Amino acid sequence: MSDIKIRNFHWGKDFKRIIKIVQEVWFFDAPTKRIGYLNALNFMLHYLNIATHIVVTVDEHDNATGILGLTTKQDQPLFRQNRFICCKARALEFTSKVALYFWPQALVSRLFNGIFFENYQKLRKMVPNPQDPEFLVMIVDPKIKGKGLGRALVQAGEDILKSKGFNQYYLLTDSSCDVGFYERLKMDKVLDVSLCFDIKHEPAYDHYLVGFLRGLIYVRNI
Ligand SMILES: CC(C)(COP(=O)(O)OP(=O)(O)OC[C@H]1O[C@@H](n2cnc3c(N)ncnc32)[C@H](O)[C@@H]1OP(=O)(O)O)[C@@H](O)C(=O)NCCC(=O)NCCS
Repeated sequence: MSDIKIRNFHWGKDFKRIIKIVQEVWFFDAPTKRIGYLNALNFMLHYLNIATHIVVTVDEHDNATGILGLTTKQDQPLFRQNRFICCKARALEFTSKVALYFWPQALVSRLFNGIFFENYQKLRKMVPNPQDPEFLVMIVDPKIKGKGLGRALVQAGEDILKSKGFNQYYLLTDSSCDVGFYERLKMDKVLDVSLCFDIKHEPAYDHYLVGFLRGLIYVRNI
């Protein structure tokens, strides 16, 4: 783990690479690659636009291989600190949302995203200490999963929070994610509820959506 390199996120250098990873991991089964790309953009910017701290793991060529975005709730979101990046990120999020909305082939993705965000809003209302910092999003290049990058990202996020005087944070997730990772890190599961995904009538997604997922909240003392 000591040879894993982590640095702060850099928009120009890392953004495209991270979106590619997200598309590969979460939107590989979108009807077309372009819809997968728009989904990845929309999904990631939903979180990155509110993140106050973003760190990435990098390979020997300084290319991003994983990302963690978190919010302390007290600092200014990172992208807002730079007017150019702020405008670009907001515009991209808006454009991807509109494009997905009007693209007939993106119907299932749109329904899926809508239900996903709605469910997470419900889950957010059940957080025991909503004023605490939140780990918003974390993902590692699937080609190098299981090599300690996820653990290193969590450690880096916790170091940031500790240096700012926080002693607790939480994260929301669901059973379609690699929740075994959080169990392995011995995070405290404080909520486990059923989340309904009622788009079973869409044949394209029958294999993927079994009608419900577990919504989970983990809390960690640091
Ligand atoms: C979850 C994720 C970030 C973990 O990153 P990673 O680099 O593969 O994890 P690490 O190699 O640091 O694993 C740390 C420990 O957790 C274990 N672990 C990792 N993923 C696990 C899983 N799905 N189930 C059980 N244990 C897991 C590892 O075996 C390792 O254990 P060890 O210390 O005993 O060897 C990564 O798998 C990923 O990007 N998943 C897809 C996206 C996702 O689900 N993100 C999180 C939820 S939103």
